Amino acid sequence: MSGKLAVVGAGTMGSGIVQSAAASGFEVVMVDVSGEALERGMGAVRAGLERRVERGRISSGERDEILSRISASTSLEACAGASLVVEAVVEDLGVKREVFSALERVVGEEAVLATNTSSLSVARISASTARPERVVGMHFFNPAPVMRLVEVVRAPRSGEEALSRAEETARRMGKTPVRVSDTPGFIVNRVARPFYLEALRLAETGESPARIDASLREEGFRMGPLELADLIGHDVNLAVSESLFERYYCHSRFRPSHLQRSMVEAGLLGRKTGRGFYDYGPEGQKRRE
Ligand code: NAI
Repeated sequence: MSGKLAVVGAGTMGSGIVQSAAASGFEVVMVDVSGEALERGMGAVRAGLERRVERGRISSGERDEILSRISASTSLEACAGASLVVEAVVEDLGVKREVFSALERVVGEEAVLATNTSSLSVARISASTARPERVVGMHFFNPAPVMRLVEVVRAPRSGEEALSRAEETARRMGKTPVRVSDTPGFIVNRVARPFYLEALRLAETGESPARIDASLREEGFRMGPLELADLIGHDVNLAVSESLFERYYCHSRFRPSHLQRSMVEAGLLGRKTGRGFYDYGPEGQKRRE
């Protein structure tokens, strides 16, 4: 397997996956339709590595070596020669299917195509390609450079070779791959969805977001549900709830929140826009409870 990876989508997840891959020795190209998104993505990688230097985890020489393994492009053609591509574009089935069918024309026969989708059907994404056996899910968690779990999703037509190469790549990135079946939300997002949705429903009744988050933190969760949704991005979190609601035939357990929808409509997406349930500074630090 060549040491070159490609990541399509330079947002919250794409930039984190690029950082993890380059830090593990892979040459990696980051692709996005937007030049601005690429700049922001590279900025996030630099800031992430800088924090590691400050904490004494890597030297400044190592930081520079990691950065030298990363290239960026607005053209999908840059994925040519990659042994594995991770797609991390917006959570929209139509967009992902277009990306996969275009990718297939660019990469070599042997390349594995992986989607980072949280909630969409990997089967439907794979059906947009001529060779669905090479399509799998590789669902990383946020923040990708820190979180170790990767759900490796087996769609009905995913091949064993592609699945084991995805697992091997995850391991080389220092992650723990867990093979899961292609059910809506896989394991984590299915079990965790009520964590966000019940908290959002409580906030809709007027309960204070800070009190909800503090209570759950006090109970042992590392982050409360609403501050976590701020980190994930409310646009992404809402898209995942909408997708699960539809795929579970409108089961009330997955009913999306009106409050969250109006926050998205108002541009209060969380850390990435500086405001969600809380206000954030330029480095993403919480300004006040
Ligand atoms: P984001 O909104 O931060 O970034 C998405 C990026 O995709 C943007 O930079 C956009 O310009 C780019 N893009 C859109 N269409 C494109 C195309 N046709 N070709 C290339 N780039 C394109 O989104 P985020 O949060 O990084 O999510 C990406 C994927 O990862 C989604 O499928 C999401 O469900 C999944 N995910 C998100 C997590 C999170 O906590 N935010 C956690 C785990 C998975």
